Amino acid sequence: MYEFKEDFLTGIDQIDAEHRRLFEIADELYNLKCEEFMPDKYDNIRHILEELRDYTLTHFEHEEAYMESIDYERLPEQRRQHEALEETINDWDMDAIDENQDETIEEILRLVTNWLVNHILYEDKLIGRKD
Ligand SMILES: [Fe+2]
Repeated sequence: MYEFKEDFLTGIDQIDAEHRRLFEIADELYNLKCEEFMPDKYDNIRHILEELRDYTLTHFEHEEAYMESIDYERLPEQRRQHEALEETINDWDMDAIDENQDETIEEILRLVTNWLVNHILYEDKLIGRKD
């Protein structure tokens, strides 16, 4: 369901590999949502969310380090966007997840994938175009 498409390629191998992994984690979360015969998904949701959070933060660090290394002019804008998502992620209330599991997964998936797709297509792809 959540798959990495060729459209998302920036042409920078490490960044593309990390974006691909982010989609894989989103897909794991989606599959968990579709799992009908699991009465309590809380531990799994928590595990995947933590992975998504940690991986996203590490990815931003890598991406910003790369942009710094090439003296990228849009780095401040990138930092601003990354910080906005970091704030959203840090606001996730892990305890509230327990009450409404499927809805919570859906909400997080919608947010993360919308954000990821837009950010990759409209910001990250520009990094690869720098000459
Ligand atoms: Fe970025």
